[in-house]
Amino acid sequence: MELEDFMITAAAALLGFISLFKNLLVFIRWLHATFLRKPKNLCEYGSWAVVTGPIDGIGKALAFELVSKGLNLVLVGRNLNKLEPTTSELRWTYANEIQVKTVVADLAKLSGEEIEAVIGEATEGLDVGAVVNNGGLAYPYPRYFREVDRELMESMLRVNLNAVMWVTKGVIDGMSKKKREAILNIGSASSVYLSSYPLQTLYASTKTYIPLFLATKMTMLRRRTMPCRLSRCSVE
Ligand SMILES: NC(=O)c1ccc[n+]([C@@H]2O[C@H](COP(=O)([O-])OP(=O)(O)OC[C@H]3O[C@@H](n4cnc5c(N)ncnc54)[C@H](OP(=O)(O)O)[C@@H]3O)[C@@H](O)[C@H]2O)c1
Repeated sequence: MELEDFMITAAAALLGFISLFKNLLVFIRWLHATFLRKPKNLCEYGSWAVVTGPIDGIGKALAFELVSKGLNLVLVGRNLNKLEPTTSELRWTYANEIQVKTVVADLAKLSGEEIEAVIGEATEGLDVGAVVNNGGLAYPYPRYFREVDRELMESMLRVNLNAVMWVTKGVIDGMSKKKREAILNIGSASSVYLSSYPLQTLYASTKTYIPLFLATKMTMLRRRTMPCRLSRCSVE
C-alpha cells in the first residue's frame, strides 16, 4: 500500500472512531441519566412548584409526580372548570396532605407582562423551588405552513414560546434569592431529532427555542451558578 493510500485509510478510520466514540458517549450519558443518576430532591429547592398546563397529559402526570414527592402546587390553566377536577383528584389522592392553588390564565391571550404579574401575584410569599413550563400546543393535524390559520400561529407562538419566558420571569425573582432553583421546560423531540419536522414546522420551531432558553433540553435541571453563558444571560 502506498503512503497516500495509507494516509487516506488512516484518516477515514480516525474519523470513524471519533464518530463512534461521540455516539458512545451520548449513549453512556443517556444510560447514566435514565438508570443510574440519583434523582434530585426538589423539596430541597422549595416547598412549592408551579406547573403550567396541568389538566391532562404530561403536565398532569408531572403534577402528580411532584406532589408524590411532597411538593405543594400552583396549577396554571386557562379554564377553572378544567382545573378543578385535577385539583380535586390531587387532594383526594393525597388526602389533603398537600396544598394546591389554581391560577386561571390564558397564556395565548394575556400579554407577557400580564402573565408575569399573575404568576408573581399567585406565588408571592410562597417558597417556590421549581417551575414546570409544560403548557403547549401543536397543530391538531399535520399541515403545510401556508395552511395554518393565523389564530393558531399566534397562539402557538404565545403559549410555546412567550409564556415559557414570562412564567419563568414571574417566579424567577423569588426563586433567585435561594441557592437552588429548578426550571423544567418541556421541549419536544420534533426540534431535536427531526430537523424541520415536516408539516409541523411552526410547532417544531417554537420548541427549538426551549433548549436555548436556560440552555436546557427536555428535562434537564440546571443551576443558575453553572458556568453556562446561555443559562446565565437568559435568567439574569
Ligand atoms: N404529547 C407528545 O407526544 C409530546 C411530545 C413532546 C413534547 N410535548 C410537549 O409536552 C407538553 C404537554 O403536552 P401534552 O401532550 O401533555 O399536551 P396536552 O395534553 O394537550 O396538554 C397541554 C396543556 O397545555 C395547556 N394549554 C394549551 N393552551 C393553553 C393556553 N392558551 N393557556 C393555558 N394553558 C394552555 C392545555 O390546557 P387546555 O386543556 O385548557 O387546552 C393542557 O393542559 C407540551 O408543551 C407539548 O408541546 C408533547
